[in-house]
Amino acid sequence: MTMQGSGARTREAMRELSIVRDASLLIDGETILAIGTKDELMRTHAELIASAHIIDARGKVLMPGLIDCHTHLVHGGTREHEFQMRLEGKTYMDIMNAGGGIHATTAMTQQASFDELYDKAMHHLNTFLLHGVTTVEAKSGYGLNWETEQKQLRVAKKLHDTHAIDVVSTFMGAHAVPKQYKGNEDAFVDIILDMLPKVAEQQLAEFNDVFCEHGVFTPEQSRRILLEGKKYGLIPKIHADEIEPYDGAELAAEVGAISAEHLLVASDQGIDDLARASTIAVLLPGTAFFLQAPFARGRLMIDRGVAVAISTDFNPGSSPTISLPFIMNLACVNMGMTMEEVLVATTVNAAHAINRGDTLGTLEVGKQADVLLLNVANYKQLQYYYGMNHTHTVVKRGKIVVKSGGLV
Ligand code: NIG
Ligand code: FE
Repeated sequence: MTMQGSGARTREAMRELSIVRDASLLIDGETILAIGTKDELMRTHAELIASAHIIDARGKVLMPGLIDCHTHLVHGGTREHEFQMRLEGKTYMDIMNAGGGIHATTAMTQQASFDELYDKAMHHLNTFLLHGVTTVEAKSGYGLNWETEQKQLRVAKKLHDTHAIDVVSTFMGAHAVPKQYKGNEDAFVDIILDMLPKVAEQQLAEFNDVFCEHGVFTPEQSRRILLEGKKYGLIPKIHADEIEPYDGAELAAEVGAISAEHLLVASDQGIDDLARASTIAVLLPGTAFFLQAPFARGRLMIDRGVAVAISTDFNPGSSPTISLPFIMNLACVNMGMTMEEVLVATTVNAAHAINRGDTLGTLEVGKQADVLLLNVANYKQLQYYYGMNHTHTVVKRGKIVVKSGGLV
């Protein structure tokens, strides 16, 4: 599956995989040099092939490395006791309002040292890689003060420099309002506004995200934070319409956000606005599954012309999983998306959701050689044999990093 073609995909183009049978792919350094049938490449690149390291892909499926475009990768601690509380009837927002949820992870992240956060996230990145994921977006937002937000972003930066996976950073200072600002939320918004130029100056993130949700940040506060970030070159993203409809999708379109994320309860108007503004909908069906909430209307969004991407939302509260293949299956079973659409949603469209459409997301000459070889006979088996890891080989920037399902 090459996914060839330019731009984020909408409508029918979300079902085009550009499959080449009996294909060979030639990599030079970090870049894809040629792609075609074996005979074609033998004619054009015989000399190079004679000295190349050959990976036998017979009987398997080759595709672009998966891209997880929405995670909260760097965080301290775990919250399995909250899962138990939810199974006993408490809601996600009840737990958060009682000082748990994001506040609990914030406390654990503030207390953790740089090295503790780094080692924990490193372990998670290894698991991502073993599942065929070659690029991960990572949000801050468990600091809620400059010191810890900066620590999270610096950990993400070091991970990008040291781990095979590309880590793309998003500043999310506006993830929750600390307890001491209850009733005085605008004062905390002012503090976030002060952080934005520092994030940009120190090149700690490319994107600026806000949890726009009833009881967290209002659309007005979210608008202020996102527009101010734009002044410093930080591209807006929004956690929109996750728990209650709140005009989050509408706001994403209005501020020219690159993506609106979650959208479980986005309005019809909001969905049409996203299509018109070419804002990518990043859908996170693992969160709906784990919070036992209604799934986002993925089918309708695609039919209305929205470019949809799919991601794990990996975080310790609402979606503690790294298995993007499992999340892809949820998108098929619970959001009415086709197997082809979820493949586009986790490659090309995910690349565009993190502004990497030019270099990642497809197998094309000149693109970064991020390649996934799956131990399945055809791409449909990837969703059919669900909840399993089919990764055989992963090549990242031209280097073999997973071999026979294990880290190299
Ligand atoms: O994307 N909704 C807000 N943020 C995260 C959850 C964070 C947490 O519970 O720790 C999300 O679902
Ligand atoms: Fe999230």
